[in-house]
Amino acid sequence: MPLKHTPTGKLISFEGSEGSGKSTQIAKLAKHLQLLGHEVLTTREPGGTEIGEQIRNIIVHNSRGDEMCAETELFLFAAARAQLVRQVIAPALITGTYVLSDRFLDSSTVYQGIARNLASDPVQQINHFAVGNVMPDLTIILDVPTEVSLARIRLRASDIPDRMERENAEFFAKVREGYLVLAKSIPSRFHVIDGTLPEAAIEKEVWKTVQKLIA
Ligand code: TMP
Repeated sequence: MPLKHTPTGKLISFEGSEGSGKSTQIAKLAKHLQLLGHEVLTTREPGGTEIGEQIRNIIVHNSRGDEMCAETELFLFAAARAQLVRQVIAPALITGTYVLSDRFLDSSTVYQGIARNLASDPVQQINHFAVGNVMPDLTIILDVPTEVSLARIRLRASDIPDRMERENAEFFAKVREGYLVLAKSIPSRFHVIDGTLPEAAIEKEVWKTVQKLIA
């Protein structure tokens, strides 16, 4: 189904490896925007809709998920995204809402395209088919060294790490590098922030960047 309306709100996506602090910074940015009187919607990928949460469960938690091939993984992430865009994000943007998304299409470019080594052209085509004309106005990458990411996963995983979290250091190094290369190739949309800075310093930098977008 094509998207019929031109969005009027803003879509800001947050990207980065596991444990980069995306959810903390999204919550802080939401507060800043709300204080200015803006409507804000926060969402996450994969998920954010009932269908998307079911897909998330298959990708991330399914005990048989280890058998999943990279192509299937790509389609499942894209399917969850297509649903989220049409059911939640596009309707919110039309009413002028600021949508803050914990991951969006760049996660597929980096995790499936670069880290899983799928060919870039089909990944881009599937990504763009899934989102229609809904692209982020700004993408903030919280960049953390691979060791920090791995240490934070270990700290966070109170029970068994999920299927993605069980990937090795080489995989997460590719993810990190992939984001940095992507950001360099589209500097007009991406802003990279050092995710090892104190939370308050990151919050300030995020807010400064978003203020430029909404000015
Ligand atoms: P999260 O734990 O940050 O919510 O993300 C779930 C996992 O899914 C994380 O390891 C990143 C991964 N992922 C992809 O591999 N491709 C995608 O397109 C998305 C949205 C997430």
